[in-house]
Amino acid sequence: MMGQEKFLFQGLVVLVSIICISQSARIMYDVSIVPEHCLNTKAIEANYTPRGVEYEIGNLTVYESQNRAAKRLLILVYDIFGMTTNIKQVGDSIAELHDFRVVLPDFFRGNQFWSLENFTLQNPVDIQNWLQQNAGWDDVVKFDLINVMNEFKTRDNITEVGIFGMCWGGKISTLAATELPEIKVAGLVHPSSVVTAEANGVKAPMYLLPSANEPDMLPFYEILKQNFGDNCGHRRFDDMAHGFAGARANFSDPLNVQRVEEVIGILGAFFNRNLNST
Ligand SMILES: *[C@@H]1O[C@H](CO)[C@@H](O)[C@H](O)[C@H]1NC(C)=O
Ligand SMILES: *[C@@H]1O[C@H](CO)[C@@H](O)[C@H](O)[C@H]1NC(C)=O
Ligand SMILES: *[C@@H]1O[C@H](CO)[C@@H](O)[C@H](O)[C@H]1NC(C)=O
Ligand SMILES: *[C@@H]1O[C@H](CO)[C@@H](O)[C@H](O)[C@H]1NC(C)=O
Repeated sequence: MMGQEKFLFQGLVVLVSIICISQSARIMYDVSIVPEHCLNTKAIEANYTPRGVEYEIGNLTVYESQNRAAKRLLILVYDIFGMTTNIKQVGDSIAELHDFRVVLPDFFRGNQFWSLENFTLQNPVDIQNWLQQNAGWDDVVKFDLINVMNEFKTRDNITEVGIFGMCWGGKISTLAATELPEIKVAGLVHPSSVVTAEANGVKAPMYLLPSANEPDMLPFYEILKQNFGDNCGHRRFDDMAHGFAGARANFSDPLNVQRVEEVIGILGAFFNRNLNST
């Protein structure tokens, strides 16, 4: 190699390494920006019997809601509490009311970092690190999502896929709508650790449903509007706390029930508009 070429080559290696390091260090649940409410409030026990089934796709367990004849798929990404009955209830409702297959992958593989007995966290960074190590985007979650979509494609010829998620799942839905072309539509329900700059990379129409505890998402919405026109949305639930449609959904509280029904109604209509019904 000539001196100059070698220099250029080394420069390129350094650049690529920097890109790789910054990609792998991407923090998925940054406790410095997640709502405090998320870190110090317990999940709420549900009084509901899920109507779907659990089965394996490769080494990943998934829960699928009862409506298994539908032709369009929604992937529901849970919050940091993992596979809870409350989330299954939300999935079952949207499947039933809006005619979707709804699949809830257990990315944490049965490990629920935050159990009811293990509360509250002494050091919030523990949960951030645990998520990085056990359910990172680049090494776990992205591949799990691709495997789930491939399974539905080969087994059931389903290619229309939407994604939505709560809290950590809102972050995952954002990354999926940015990096996975199979994702045709997305919804963020009280998302955490999502920042405005990420809106620029989003490639699928998206609906934003923050609660009172999230930062203002109107700047994020403005960017979506530039890219999707009317085919995106924003509704802020100022009378609901972070978690109201996830593990902290209180289905004994009539107002909470009403707000979850609104989330399901808004997302159901939006997903219907964006996924082919044939
Ligand atoms: C699950 O399977 C994938 C290959 O499909 C592999 O890369 C991954 O390490 C496996 N994960 C676990 C927890 O076994
Ligand atoms: C409890 O929290 C600690 C970290 O503070 C974590 O290492 C452990 O896995 C948690 N255990 C359960 C059962 O959630
Ligand atoms: C799969 O879906 C495509 C598009 O909807 C359709 O044209 C094709 O006939 C389907 N194939 C099978 C085997 O159902
Ligand atoms: C759920 O809502 C009911 C009715 O408002 C209330 O009595 C109960 O304390 C709530 N549960 C929790 C755990 O917040």
